[in-house]
Amino acid sequence: MTDLNQLELDLINAIGSAEGVQALEELRIAALGKAGSISGLLKGLGAMSPDERRVEGPRINGLRDRVAAALAARKGELEAAELDARLRSEHMDLTLPSRAARTGSVHPTLQVMDEMVALFADMGFSVAEGPDIEDDFHNFTALNFPPRHPAREMHDTFFLTPDPETGERKVLRTHTSPVQIRTMMSTTPPIRIIAPGRTFRKDSDATHTPMFHQVEGLVIDRDIHMGHLKWTLETFVARFFEVEGIDARFRPHHFPFTEPSAEMDIRCDRSGGVLKLNEGNSWMEILGCGMVHPNVLRTCGIDPDEYQGFAFGMGVDRLAMLKYGIPDLRPMFEADSRWLAHYGFSAFSAPSAAAGLS
Ligand code: DAH
Repeated sequence: MTDLNQLELDLINAIGSAEGVQALEELRIAALGKAGSISGLLKGLGAMSPDERRVEGPRINGLRDRVAAALAARKGELEAAELDARLRSEHMDLTLPSRAARTGSVHPTLQVMDEMVALFADMGFSVAEGPDIEDDFHNFTALNFPPRHPAREMHDTFFLTPDPETGERKVLRTHTSPVQIRTMMSTTPPIRIIAPGRTFRKDSDATHTPMFHQVEGLVIDRDIHMGHLKWTLETFVARFFEVEGIDARFRPHHFPFTEPSAEMDIRCDRSGGVLKLNEGNSWMEILGCGMVHPNVLRTCGIDPDEYQGFAFGMGVDRLAMLKYGIPDLRPMFEADSRWLAHYGFSAFSAPSAAAGLS
Protein backbone atom coordinates (compact mmCIF):
# COMPACT_ATOMS: atom_id res chain seq x y z
CA MET A 1 0.00 0.00 0.00
CA THR A 2 1.38 3.37 -1.00
CA ASP A 3 -0.26 4.88 2.13
CA LEU A 4 2.05 2.87 4.35
CA ASN A 5 5.10 3.69 2.23
CA GLN A 6 4.22 7.36 2.33
CA LEU A 7 3.70 7.27 6.09
CA GLU A 8 7.03 5.56 6.58
CA LEU A 9 8.79 8.04 4.34
CA ASP A 10 7.27 11.02 6.18
CA LEU A 11 8.10 9.56 9.59
CA ILE A 12 11.68 8.65 8.71
CA ASN A 13 12.25 12.14 7.24
CA ALA A 14 10.76 13.88 10.25
CA ILE A 15 12.85 11.72 12.63
CA GLY A 16 16.00 12.41 10.66
CA SER A 17 15.50 16.15 10.85
CA ALA A 18 14.24 16.35 14.49
CA GLU A 19 16.35 19.06 16.13
CA GLY A 20 16.20 17.97 19.73
CA VAL A 21 15.35 15.20 22.14
CA GLN A 22 12.04 16.90 22.97
CA ALA A 23 10.95 17.19 19.30
CA LEU A 24 11.90 13.53 18.80
CA GLU A 25 9.81 12.49 21.77
CA GLU A 26 6.83 14.31 20.26
CA LEU A 27 7.31 12.38 17.02
CA ARG A 28 7.49 9.08 18.94
CA ILE A 29 4.21 9.83 20.71
CA ALA A 30 2.54 10.84 17.41
CA ALA A 31 3.58 7.52 15.79
CA LEU A 32 3.88 4.88 18.50
CA GLY A 33 1.98 6.46 21.42
CA LYS A 34 -1.43 5.21 22.47
CA ALA A 35 -3.20 7.39 19.92
CA GLY A 36 -0.29 7.28 17.45
CA SER A 37 -0.64 6.70 13.73
CA ILE A 38 1.15 3.30 13.72
CA SER A 39 -0.64 2.20 16.90
CA GLY A 40 -3.91 2.96 15.09
CA LEU A 41 -2.89 0.76 12.17
CA LEU A 42 -1.95 -2.09 14.55
CA LYS A 43 -5.33 -1.79 16.28
CA GLY A 44 -7.01 -2.03 12.85
CA LEU A 45 -5.53 -5.54 12.34
CA GLY A 46 -8.17 -6.97 14.70
CA ALA A 47 -10.97 -6.02 12.32
CA MET A 48 -9.37 -7.69 9.30
CA SER A 49 -10.01 -11.10 7.88
CA PRO A 50 -7.31 -13.72 8.60
CA ASP A 51 -6.09 -13.53 4.99
CA GLU A 52 -5.83 -9.79 5.02
CA ARG A 53 -4.14 -9.88 8.41
CA ARG A 54 -1.52 -12.34 7.19
CA VAL A 55 -0.47 -9.80 4.54
CA GLU A 56 -0.97 -6.56 6.47
CA GLY A 57 0.38 -7.81 9.87
CA PRO A 58 4.01 -8.20 8.77
CA ARG A 59 3.87 -4.90 6.84
CA ILE A 60 2.59 -2.85 9.75
CA ASN A 61 4.84 -4.59 12.29
CA GLY A 62 7.80 -4.09 9.97
CA LEU A 63 6.92 -0.40 9.69
CA ARG A 64 6.67 -0.13 13.46
CA ASP A 65 10.09 -1.80 13.94
CA ARG A 66 11.82 0.39 11.38
CA VAL A 67 10.32 3.60 12.84
CA ALA A 68 11.28 2.50 16.37
CA ALA A 69 14.82 1.78 15.17
CA ALA A 70 15.01 5.18 13.42
CA LEU A 71 13.81 6.89 16.62
CA ALA A 72 16.45 5.10 18.72
CA ALA A 73 19.21 5.91 16.24
CA ARG A 74 18.27 9.61 16.06
CA LYS A 75 18.02 9.76 19.85
CA GLY A 76 21.54 8.36 20.11
CA GLU A 77 22.81 11.01 17.67
CA LEU A 78 21.08 13.88 19.48
CA GLU A 79 22.36 12.77 22.89
CA ALA A 80 25.90 12.43 21.62
CA ALA A 81 25.69 15.93 20.10
CA GLU A 82 24.33 17.31 23.35
CA LEU A 83 27.17 15.74 25.34
CA ASP A 84 29.65 17.01 22.82
CA ALA A 85 28.36 20.57 23.13
CA ARG A 86 28.46 20.38 26.95
CA LEU A 87 32.00 19.07 26.96
CA ARG A 88 33.04 21.84 24.62
CA SER A 89 31.40 24.58 26.73
CA GLU A 90 32.70 23.22 30.04
CA HIS A 91 36.19 22.54 28.89
CA MET A 92 38.94 24.09 30.95
CA ASP A 93 42.25 25.38 29.72
CA LEU A 94 44.67 24.01 32.26
CA THR A 95 47.51 26.01 30.78
CA LEU A 96 45.94 29.35 31.91
CA PRO A 97 47.73 30.97 34.88
CA SER A 98 45.78 30.63 38.16
CA ARG A 99 44.19 33.60 39.99
CA ALA A 100 46.30 35.43 42.55
CA ALA A 101 45.68 33.92 46.00
CA ARG A 102 43.17 35.95 48.00
CA THR A 103 43.56 35.35 51.71
CA GLY A 104 41.82 37.21 54.51
CA SER A 105 43.82 38.58 57.40
CA VAL A 106 43.34 39.24 61.09
CA HIS A 107 42.70 42.90 62.00
CA PRO A 108 45.46 44.40 64.19
CA THR A 109 42.93 45.19 66.95
CA LEU A 110 41.83 41.57 67.11
CA GLN A 111 45.44 40.43 66.90
CA VAL A 112 46.37 42.61 69.89
CA MET A 113 43.30 41.46 71.85
CA ASP A 114 44.34 37.86 71.22
CA GLU A 115 47.86 38.68 72.35
CA MET A 116 46.53 40.26 75.55
CA VAL A 117 44.25 37.32 76.26
CA ALA A 118 47.17 34.92 75.74
CA LEU A 119 49.46 36.88 78.08
CA PHE A 120 46.90 37.39 80.85
CA ALA A 121 45.66 33.79 80.58
CA ASP A 122 49.27 32.78 81.19
CA MET A 123 49.11 34.79 84.43
CA GLY A 124 45.91 33.03 85.51
CA PHE A 125 43.29 35.53 84.33
CA SER A 126 40.08 34.44 82.68
CA VAL A 127 38.03 36.42 80.14
CA ALA A 128 34.76 38.13 81.15
CA GLU A 129 32.24 39.93 78.95
CA GLY A 130 29.41 42.42 79.28
CA PRO A 131 26.87 44.11 76.98
CA ASP A 132 27.70 47.04 74.67
CA ILE A 133 24.42 48.71 75.69
CA GLU A 134 24.72 49.39 79.40
CA ASP A 135 22.55 50.95 82.05
CA ASP A 136 23.58 54.00 84.01
CA PHE A 137 24.07 51.89 87.14
CA HIS A 138 26.79 49.62 85.72
CA ASN A 139 28.48 52.24 83.55
CA PHE A 140 28.55 55.03 86.19
CA THR A 141 26.75 54.73 89.53
CA ALA A 142 28.24 51.44 90.74
CA LEU A 143 31.67 52.73 89.64
CA ASN A 144 31.34 55.52 92.20
CA PHE A 145 30.45 58.32 89.78
CA PRO A 146 28.33 60.60 91.99
CA PRO A 147 24.76 61.21 90.71
CA ARG A 148 24.58 64.02 88.15
CA HIS A 149 28.36 64.34 88.33
CA PRO A 150 29.88 66.03 85.24
CA ALA A 151 32.05 62.93 84.73
CA ARG A 152 29.03 61.36 83.09
CA GLU A 153 29.21 64.08 80.44
CA MET A 154 33.02 64.12 80.41
CA HIS A 155 32.96 60.65 78.94
CA ASP A 156 31.23 62.09 75.84
CA THR A 157 28.54 59.55 76.40
CA PHE A 158 26.13 58.34 73.71
CA PHE A 159 22.78 58.28 75.52
CA LEU A 160 19.95 56.19 74.09
CA THR A 161 16.37 57.48 73.92
CA PRO A 162 14.84 57.15 77.41
CA ASP A 163 12.39 54.31 77.97
CA PRO A 164 8.89 55.94 77.68
CA GLU A 165 7.61 54.01 80.71
CA THR A 166 10.49 54.05 83.18
CA GLY A 167 12.35 57.09 81.87
CA GLU A 168 15.53 54.99 82.06
CA ARG A 169 18.24 56.24 79.75
CA LYS A 170 20.62 53.49 78.63
CA VAL A 171 24.08 54.29 77.27
CA LEU A 172 26.56 52.79 74.84
CA ARG A 173 29.17 51.81 77.38
CA THR A 174 31.91 54.43 77.58
CA HIS A 175 34.46 51.97 78.99
CA THR A 176 34.81 48.27 79.81
CA SER A 177 34.80 49.01 83.56
CA PRO A 178 31.10 48.00 83.95
CA VAL A 179 32.26 44.41 83.36
CA GLN A 180 34.11 44.73 86.73
CA ILE A 181 30.78 45.43 88.40
CA ARG A 182 28.98 42.60 86.63
CA THR A 183 31.76 40.16 87.57
CA MET A 184 31.94 41.20 91.23
CA MET A 185 28.14 41.02 91.56
CA SER A 186 27.87 37.57 90.00
CA THR A 187 30.89 35.79 91.54
CA THR A 188 32.81 35.76 94.79
CA PRO A 189 36.52 36.49 95.30
CA PRO A 190 39.17 35.52 94.48
CA ILE A 191 38.65 37.18 91.09
CA ARG A 192 41.15 37.54 88.29
CA ILE A 193 39.60 38.62 84.99
CA ILE A 194 40.24 40.68 81.91
CA ALA A 195 37.37 42.05 79.85
CA PRO A 196 38.14 42.92 76.23
CA GLY A 197 35.42 44.70 74.28
CA ARG A 198 33.99 47.58 72.31
CA THR A 199 33.49 51.00 73.85
CA PHE A 200 31.88 54.20 72.55
CA ARG A 201 32.41 57.94 72.94
CA LYS A 202 31.33 60.98 70.92
CA ASP A 203 34.77 61.79 69.66
CA SER A 204 36.47 61.70 66.28
CA ASP A 205 39.92 62.82 65.16
CA ALA A 206 43.28 61.23 64.24
CA THR A 207 43.55 59.59 67.66
CA HIS A 208 39.86 59.11 68.57
CA THR A 209 37.04 57.19 66.91
CA PRO A 210 33.43 56.97 68.18
CA MET A 211 33.92 53.21 68.59
CA PHE A 212 37.14 51.83 69.98
CA HIS A 213 38.32 48.88 72.06
CA GLN A 214 39.45 48.50 75.63
CA VAL A 215 40.70 45.74 77.84
CA GLU A 216 39.73 45.98 81.48
CA GLY A 217 41.48 44.04 84.23
CA LEU A 218 40.37 43.21 87.74
CA VAL A 219 42.03 41.30 90.59
CA ILE A 220 40.26 40.87 93.94
CA ASP A 221 41.66 38.78 96.80
CA ARG A 222 42.92 39.12 100.35
CA ASP A 223 46.00 41.27 100.96
CA ILE A 224 46.27 42.63 97.42
CA HIS A 225 48.28 45.84 97.22
CA MET A 226 49.88 48.27 94.73
CA GLY A 227 52.95 46.03 94.49
CA HIS A 228 50.84 43.33 92.82
CA LEU A 229 49.40 45.92 90.45
CA LYS A 230 52.82 47.22 89.53
CA TRP A 231 54.36 43.79 88.93
CA THR A 232 51.40 42.56 86.90
CA LEU A 233 51.30 45.59 84.62
CA GLU A 234 55.06 45.90 84.16
CA THR A 235 55.32 42.20 83.37
CA PHE A 236 52.43 42.39 80.96
CA VAL A 237 53.74 45.48 79.13
CA ALA A 238 57.26 44.02 78.77
CA ARG A 239 55.89 40.75 77.38
CA PHE A 240 53.46 42.58 75.13
CA PHE A 241 56.20 44.69 73.54
CA GLU A 242 58.50 41.64 73.55
CA VAL A 243 61.28 43.35 75.54
CA GLU A 244 63.21 42.08 78.59
CA GLY A 245 61.91 44.68 81.05
CA ILE A 246 60.07 47.96 80.91
CA ASP A 247 61.03 51.33 82.37
CA ALA A 248 57.68 52.55 83.67
CA ARG A 249 56.40 55.20 86.03
CA PHE A 250 53.10 55.36 87.84
CA ARG A 251 51.82 58.93 87.91
CA PRO A 252 49.03 59.87 90.35
CA HIS A 253 45.71 60.44 88.62
CA HIS A 254 42.01 60.43 89.40
CA PHE A 255 39.35 57.88 88.55
CA PRO A 256 36.16 57.70 90.64
CA PHE A 257 36.36 53.90 90.89
CA THR A 258 39.94 53.58 92.20
CA GLU A 259 41.76 55.02 95.19
CA PRO A 260 44.62 55.62 94.83
CA SER A 261 44.55 55.95 91.03
CA ALA A 262 47.43 56.17 88.62
CA GLU A 263 48.33 56.35 84.98
CA MET A 264 51.17 54.16 83.80
CA ASP A 265 53.73 55.78 81.50
CA ILE A 266 56.55 54.03 79.71
CA ARG A 267 59.89 55.55 78.79
CA CYS A 268 60.43 56.02 75.09
CA ASP A 269 62.37 57.86 72.48
CA ARG A 270 60.41 59.26 69.55
CA SER A 271 63.12 61.21 67.78
CA GLY A 272 63.47 60.50 64.07
CA GLY A 273 59.88 59.32 63.78
CA VAL A 274 60.56 55.86 65.20
CA LEU A 275 59.44 54.71 68.61
CA LYS A 276 62.12 53.17 70.79
CA LEU A 277 61.04 51.79 74.14
CA ASN A 278 63.13 52.10 77.31
CA GLU A 279 65.22 54.87 75.73
CA GLY A 280 65.21 58.67 75.69
CA ASN A 281 63.42 61.15 77.89
CA SER A 282 59.80 60.99 76.73
CA TRP A 283 57.06 59.29 78.70
CA MET A 284 54.05 57.85 76.99
CA GLU A 285 50.81 57.18 78.87
CA ILE A 286 49.52 53.70 78.12
CA LEU A 287 46.88 52.83 80.71
CA GLY A 288 44.87 53.81 83.78
CA CYS A 289 44.87 51.78 86.98
CA GLY A 290 44.40 51.85 90.72
CA MET A 291 43.20 50.08 93.83
CA VAL A 292 39.47 49.34 93.61
CA HIS A 293 37.57 51.98 95.63
CA PRO A 294 35.93 50.64 98.83
CA ASN A 295 32.60 52.13 97.70
CA VAL A 296 32.75 50.02 94.53
CA LEU A 297 33.49 46.87 96.52
CA ARG A 298 30.65 47.62 98.96
CA THR A 299 28.15 48.24 96.12
CA CYS A 300 29.04 44.81 94.77
CA GLY A 301 28.55 43.12 98.14
CA ILE A 302 32.28 42.66 98.87
CA ASP A 303 33.58 43.66 102.32
CA PRO A 304 36.53 46.07 101.79
CA ASP A 305 37.97 45.10 105.19
CA GLU A 306 38.28 41.54 104.02
CA TYR A 307 39.10 41.92 100.32
CA GLN A 308 41.05 44.42 98.26
CA GLY A 309 42.02 44.53 94.66
CA PHE A 310 43.34 46.45 91.75
CA ALA A 311 41.92 47.32 88.35
CA PHE A 312 43.25 48.68 85.11
CA GLY A 313 41.97 49.72 81.72
CA MET A 314 43.74 50.29 78.43
CA GLY A 315 42.97 51.17 74.83
CA VAL A 316 43.55 48.21 72.54
CA ASP A 317 43.60 50.11 69.24
CA ARG A 318 46.13 52.59 70.59
CA LEU A 319 48.39 49.77 71.77
CA ALA A 320 48.04 48.11 68.36
CA MET A 321 49.10 51.39 66.70
CA LEU A 322 52.12 51.69 68.98
CA LYS A 323 53.24 48.10 68.62
CA TYR A 324 52.74 47.82 64.87
CA GLY A 325 53.61 51.38 63.80
CA ILE A 326 50.14 52.40 62.58
CA PRO A 327 50.08 56.21 62.27
CA ASP A 328 46.33 57.00 62.11
CA LEU A 329 43.49 55.44 64.11
CA ARG A 330 40.65 56.20 61.70
CA PRO A 331 41.51 53.79 58.84
CA MET A 332 41.43 50.98 61.39
CA PHE A 333 37.64 51.03 61.12
CA GLU A 334 37.20 51.82 57.42
CA ALA A 335 37.30 48.17 56.28
CA ASP A 336 39.64 48.99 53.38
CA SER A 337 41.03 45.70 52.15
CA ARG A 338 44.30 47.35 51.03
CA TRP A 339 44.86 48.62 54.57
CA LEU A 340 44.05 45.18 55.95
CA ALA A 341 46.35 43.46 53.51
CA HIS A 342 49.13 45.79 54.67
CA TYR A 343 48.58 45.69 58.44
CA GLY A 344 46.67 42.41 58.90
CA PHE A 345 48.03 39.21 60.40
CA SER A 346 47.84 35.60 59.30
CA ALA A 347 44.90 33.72 60.72
CA PHE A 348 47.15 30.69 61.04
CA SER A 349 49.52 32.17 63.62
CA ALA A 350 47.46 32.50 66.78
CA PRO A 351 49.44 34.31 69.47
CA SER A 352 50.46 32.31 72.51
CA ALA A 353 52.59 33.17 75.53
CA ALA A 354 54.86 30.21 74.90
CA ALA A 355 55.15 30.21 71.10
CA GLY A 356 55.40 34.00 70.67
CA LEU A 357 52.99 36.76 69.91
CA SER A 358 53.29 38.06 66.36
N1 DAH B 1 37.70 53.15 82.57
C1 DAH B 1 38.83 54.03 82.38
C2 DAH B 1 38.67 54.81 81.09
O1 DAH B 1 37.96 54.39 80.23
C3 DAH B 1 40.10 53.24 82.30
C4 DAH B 1 40.46 52.68 83.64
C5 DAH B 1 41.22 53.42 84.51
C6 DAH B 1 39.96 51.46 84.05
C7 DAH B 1 41.54 52.92 85.76
C8 DAH B 1 40.28 50.96 85.30
C9 DAH B 1 41.07 51.71 86.15
O2 DAH B 1 39.84 49.76 85.73
O3 DAH B 1 41.38 51.21 87.37
O4 DAH B 1 39.24 55.83 80.93
